[in-house]
Amino acid sequence: MNLQQEITTYFRQLAEQESSIILDDIKRSDPHSVEQIDASELQALEKTVSQCKKCELSQTRKNVVFGQGNPQARLMFIGEAPGADEDRQGQPFVGRAGQLLNKIIAAMGFEREEIYIANILKCRPPDNRDPLPHEVEACISYLKEQIRLIQPEVIVSLGKVSAVNLMNFSPSVSVKSIRERIFTYENRPLVVTYHPAALLRSASYKRPTWEDMQMVMKLLSGEIQWKPETDNTLI
Ligand code: URA
Ligand code: URA
Repeated sequence: MNLQQEITTYFRQLAEQESSIILDDIKRSDPHSVEQIDASELQALEKTVSQCKKCELSQTRKNVVFGQGNPQARLMFIGEAPGADEDRQGQPFVGRAGQLLNKIIAAMGFEREEIYIANILKCRPPDNRDPLPHEVEACISYLKEQIRLIQPEVIVSLGKVSAVNLMNFSPSVSVKSIRERIFTYENRPLVVTYHPAALLRSASYKRPTWEDMQMVMKLLSGEIQWKPETDNTLI
């Protein structure tokens, strides 16, 4: 590196440190006032994740499914793991469950591009089996970083695997027992609902899912007044 490059690098690093400090301050008061920086950090994270080999799923995947949507999304949906269609296309929720999720999003009055969609695992488990604990352990820090960068106002966990791994619930909980509540994930509300794949299997999940989404909309509109709680315990 010549001197010119060294100086340039030094100032760039300095600027990055400074901006992240300023960023943190702004974010606490207004999560949506800083745009490009979040997007570029998210892109850098995506690049890292696209090369991930932390678990064996990297050997069977066709594509990493990082996540998709607006880096300033107010609403974030978090599913379980890519299926065959997602693995093929490299995008979350593009198969049958995804078509249904699109309808739910539209019914809420959102465009898919406005929100952000991600999964607990970024790579497809063979035969769509449940994620193994060591796979979640290897992968979930990527999701947590996505949440930290996007700073959504509300998180929706789609199905049990999403909720259990984000909230550290016992794997024996049922969606039925944890929906209709507002949990706290890093100072923001997290709502659990049925996975769209469950809705495809049983239409009886549609009504409760829609009720859950109405609660989400009320959280976003301020109609439900909500304060962070430290107590997420299940009783
Ligand atoms: N199911 C999920 O949990 N995530 C996807 O991306 C697709 C289907
Ligand atoms: N049953 C399921 O299989 N999945 C859900 O998300 C909820 C109920």
